[in-house]
Amino acid sequence: MSNADIYHEMIVDYSRNPINYGEIENHDVTFHDSNPLCGDSIDIDMKIDDQKVTDIKFHGKGCAICMACSSVLTEITKGKSLEDVRKIEKNDILSELGLEHLQAVRIKCALLSLKVLKSALYTYIAKNMSDLEGMDKLKDEAASLY
Ligand code: FES
Repeated sequence: MSNADIYHEMIVDYSRNPINYGEIENHDVTFHDSNPLCGDSIDIDMKIDDQKVTDIKFHGKGCAICMACSSVLTEITKGKSLEDVRKIEKNDILSELGLEHLQAVRIKCALLSLKVLKSALYTYIAKNMSDLEGMDKLKDEAASLY
């Protein structure tokens, strides 16, 4: 079996049996976004304690790539400090599924969950932030994501 076959199987598996799929009722932050081209949409809920993501779940609908990337991303994020979640980059997800050379039209499928995660993170940090300088840095970071 080639690497491409293995990655393909992983994507199909994750899309049929997504990991961390569901909702967290008493979440500390939640965010929703969608891909306007196809209408697929993802929500991410996070529970945050002592500056760490103690639980994370996603729900919504998406293509196989979108669901697989959401599963991988939530797995990578769980247990990380907020500082480390800030450092998660698109290749951290793409490389897990052999998607580094994905066509431009599909890249939004792969990165929808990352966009939602970062937006949830920035929302949480901004709510709990008091210094304006830090807020400007956060806005620059959000603007340079894609
Ligand atoms: Fe909608 Fe992939 S086709 S996210």
